[in-house]
Amino acid sequence: MAPEFADKPFMRHYLDYYFDVYWDLHVGVKGEAISSQVRRIGEAFNTVLAYRDPLHPIVYENYMIVRNLLDFLKQWIDERIEDIVAGRTRNPEKTMAWYWVKNAGNGEHFSKKDVVFECFHNFVAFSQWGNTIFGIMSRLSEEGGDPDVRASFEKIMSGDYDNAGGAPFTPLELFVMELFRTISPNGGSLSAIQNVRHGSADKYGDRESPFLRFGLAYERNSYISSPHTSTSKSPIHWEHPEQFDPDRYRHVPTSADVGEETCKQVGFARCPFDITSFEVKDGRKVEITNSAFGTVFGVVEGKPKPVCDYARFAPFGFSYRRCPGEQLTIQVFEDFLRKIVRDKITFHRLNQPNAGRVPIGPGAVIDDDIGFRKSA
Ligand code: HEM
Repeated sequence: MAPEFADKPFMRHYLDYYFDVYWDLHVGVKGEAISSQVRRIGEAFNTVLAYRDPLHPIVYENYMIVRNLLDFLKQWIDERIEDIVAGRTRNPEKTMAWYWVKNAGNGEHFSKKDVVFECFHNFVAFSQWGNTIFGIMSRLSEEGGDPDVRASFEKIMSGDYDNAGGAPFTPLELFVMELFRTISPNGGSLSAIQNVRHGSADKYGDRESPFLRFGLAYERNSYISSPHTSTSKSPIHWEHPEQFDPDRYRHVPTSADVGEETCKQVGFARCPFDITSFEVKDGRKVEITNSAFGTVFGVVEGKPKPVCDYARFAPFGFSYRRCPGEQLTIQVFEDFLRKIVRDKITFHRLNQPNAGRVPIGPGAVIDDDIGFRKSA
């Protein structure tokens, strides 16, 4: 957000730097150390995610670029991980790959292949930051923004926004959580359900499914969908889901509260997931544990760092599939908002006659017509 980029379409600018941030965070390289092919495959991947429709020529063209460059990318990531392992990367402990390698346990927890895969699986994960930034700018925009979000932001940032006062979340964190509930960059997730009709007929005549019986050469699965947006906004879950209200999370259970007792209260005979902890092997005093609902979270030097573990807050999914990048993401946007206040940044519509169409994140191709400005 340097002054020379003020009053310019922001999302194109964001994407121009996005892969520097991305690869710096993953393997400690940025700028010219990122080859043009590596930038190209990342952009093509994002374009496919954004346009999505396979009948669209832009999707086909970019899909083919991803396929053609994938082996090159894997090799490139592999070499960067070698650099980290061999001590050739500056500040390796600032990269995510360093933590994955340290905790790989001679390959028993992750193989090198898993670390390489994870470095580009995150193309999907991080691409959602684009939707989020755009969602925040649109709501905070001086013209046509959301008055409730703007009023809430002003109120929170004029108080002691980083002080949790003994509660699990600070006021700024509550504000960001409410932004995520309402923006919901990830609309829903699909999980495959395995067919459980195996074996011979029971006394009711129920037996294995026809595709198993006839030995068909494909696997049949059903799917279950977790609709994040509609779950977070359901009137069954919240009294006023349409209101922007960061205080709604003040009285909901966190993953550190959900144990045996909560399970009994909601009608389970026992916890669906055993509570298990393991220590990380990268020199930090950190344990990774889970709630009785399966939500994984960290405990740092004996102090839990929980997430809101409640059916009403869905933007990061649920249970053992819950997003492990949630707290990093929330902290990134807390920082973004602190910077906005510190540097007196405001967002404005640029009203360009032909705003560029920019693929910013999954399912999102937007008119790039918002810019920032620093007031005196
Ligand atoms: C705006 C940002 C993000 C959103 C909205 C988001 C949302 C989600 C959601 C809804 C899921 C659950 C999917 C399911 O139920 O199948 C998920 C899973 C996951 N996320 Fe994120 N995510 C974000 C950023 C990140 C980041 C930055 C990382 C990595 C640092 C990350 C890593 C992952 C991983 C590895 C999983 C799979 C977890 C598993 O199945 O065990 N995400 N994310």
